[in-house]
Amino acid sequence: MRQHVNPLSSKYLQPISLPDWSQIYSNLSSPFYLDLGCGRGRFLLQMATLFPDRNFLGIEIRELLVQEANRIKCSHNLTNLYYLFANINVSLRDILSSLPPNSLQMVMIQFPDPWFKKKHHKRRIVKPEVVNIIAEFLRDDGQVFLQSDVEEVAQEMVDLFLENPRFQLLSPQIWLPENPLGIMTEREVASINKGRKVYRTILTTNKHNPPKN
Ligand SMILES: C[S@@+](CC[C@H](N)C(=O)[O-])C[C@H]1O[C@@H](n2cnc3c(N)ncnc32)[C@H](O)[C@@H]1O
Repeated sequence: MRQHVNPLSSKYLQPISLPDWSQIYSNLSSPFYLDLGCGRGRFLLQMATLFPDRNFLGIEIRELLVQEANRIKCSHNLTNLYYLFANINVSLRDILSSLPPNSLQMVMIQFPDPWFKKKHHKRRIVKPEVVNIIAEFLRDDGQVFLQSDVEEVAQEMVDLFLENPRFQLLSPQIWLPENPLGIMTEREVASINKGRKVYRTILTTNKHNPPKN
């Protein structure tokens, strides 16, 4: 299986058709937790099992991973979890617009592809446009959880979120020593096993700066 796809290639720039969420989630009034670039999705599988009163949605550009993750979630009979094949940089607004209003509680971006070469930085998922869309849809008590084992990538994500007046750091100490969610992604396990430092933080919405419409 290829490790990377180029999110800017024409194949991934087409809009997608969205499912009827009422056919997927048994309780559409539960808050939504989004994992952007969820990979194989095992983190969300554990979260959805532990928190049946929350809805989880993983978005991933590698379609085969999405198909396999949905097969596994069906075998667990989970009705609070779904994996969607989509390019975040193309479809995020359409996806969030299709969810029940004011339902977005948390957005997680964990170990996004770093695209180290400067000419490839434009392939990174966190861009001002993505931050603005999240700012528009996140609830007033919502949170954004970011983590990476590449300090430059983690810092760039934090800087881009803080450039938007809707976001502020949850704690004065930018990098959290422990994962507050208590469940690790596959990339996180691999990084920790290699002894790498993980840079992670939580941002909250700033109630004094409501989203712009
Ligand atoms: C390094 S992996 C991390 C996976 C998972 N979050 C983890 O921590 O184990 C990054 C994932 O983001 C996905 N991805 C990259 N760009 C994307 C985009 N524009 N839209 C959706 N998914 C994307 C990749 O296909 C890959 O599965």
